[in-house]
Amino acid sequence: MNSRTDTPVTVIGLGLMGRALAGAFLKAGHPTTVWNRTTSKADQLVAEGARLAPTVGDALKAGSLTIICVTDYQVMHELLGASDIEPAGTMLINLTSGDSAQAREAARWAEQRGAHYLDGAIMAIPSAIGTAEAVILHSGPQSDFEAHRSTLDALGTVTYLGADHGLASLYDVAGLAMMWSVLNAWLQGTAMLRTAGVDAATYAPFAQQIAATVAEWLPGYAEQIDSGSFPAEVSALETDVRAMAHLIEESEAVGVNAELPKLIKAMADRSIAAGHGGEQYPVLIEEFGRPRND
Ligand SMILES: NC(=O)c1ccc[n+]([C@@H]2O[C@H](COP(=O)([O-])OP(=O)(O)OC[C@H]3O[C@@H](n4cnc5c(N)ncnc54)[C@H](OP(=O)(O)O)[C@@H]3O)[C@@H](O)[C@H]2O)c1
Repeated sequence: MNSRTDTPVTVIGLGLMGRALAGAFLKAGHPTTVWNRTTSKADQLVAEGARLAPTVGDALKAGSLTIICVTDYQVMHELLGASDIEPAGTMLINLTSGDSAQAREAARWAEQRGAHYLDGAIMAIPSAIGTAEAVILHSGPQSDFEAHRSTLDALGTVTYLGADHGLASLYDVAGLAMMWSVLNAWLQGTAMLRTAGVDAATYAPFAQQIAATVAEWLPGYAEQIDSGSFPAEVSALETDVRAMAHLIEESEAVGVNAELPKLIKAMADRSIAAGHGGEQYPVLIEEFGRPRND
């Protein structure tokens, strides 16, 4: 990874993730200052060359870039809101998980104190940090991201999403929606097949292939969503709904849970009732795009 190694960095929060982040900076050669409430979690990093700061305020002063990665935004505000903290002029990158409103609020908090602030989201497990596999999303002022990009490269595949500080959190949860949807669909099929003696390992490669095929449809379907036009080039929603009914009947017949297919069919039924039966599946964006009010 192409990281400038002379930039001093600070990592606040040395949980499982914070330790991985600090370790990656150290490995890339960055002078690294760390702080954690439980100081013993810094022992290994100190042995590897990190400096343990006595206070958050001291830690913040040490690096030209400070990463904070703690349990949640409340903890972040508690730590950075202490009276001895002087955020003005510092560059803060918050890799704590949270929602988009919390990210935007934290950005306002930082701006009022004269600090530079980027919000981020880590789409990786600690052991992947420092490898290209670790995707780390950032949002906020582009100039701040570009100024520190070469340092951030030590952490993995760093990506800039846009000026809106809420974007990293939104992409984070969008990714979770994708992950759980794929897993849930696989579990539904696995549950049905197990009733016929087919084990999960046998079905997994078949399911993998279907997931890959469906993934290829996304760019084309995205064009339909972005243009607001859903011609049924492959299949109409009313055809899909008949297959959904079949999935529900089969699930019930073999005695597995049918809640998920019923939920999806209920959304499709509403879309058809609204006059979209002759259009293609992505027209369901209209159902996904509003809260259910009935
Ligand atoms: N682990 C993952 O796979 C993963 C993946 C993506 C994103 N993340 C995100 O990364 C963040 C950190 O996760 P983690 O896995 O490192 O969690 P963790 O191991 O539970 O660490 C939590 C960190 O927050 C600190 N903390 C909690 N309450 C505090 C308080 N009241 N005052 C001061 N410090 C406090 C802890 O300090 P102590 O050590 O003193 O308790 C520790 O440094 C979370 O937002 C998580 O969602 C984690």
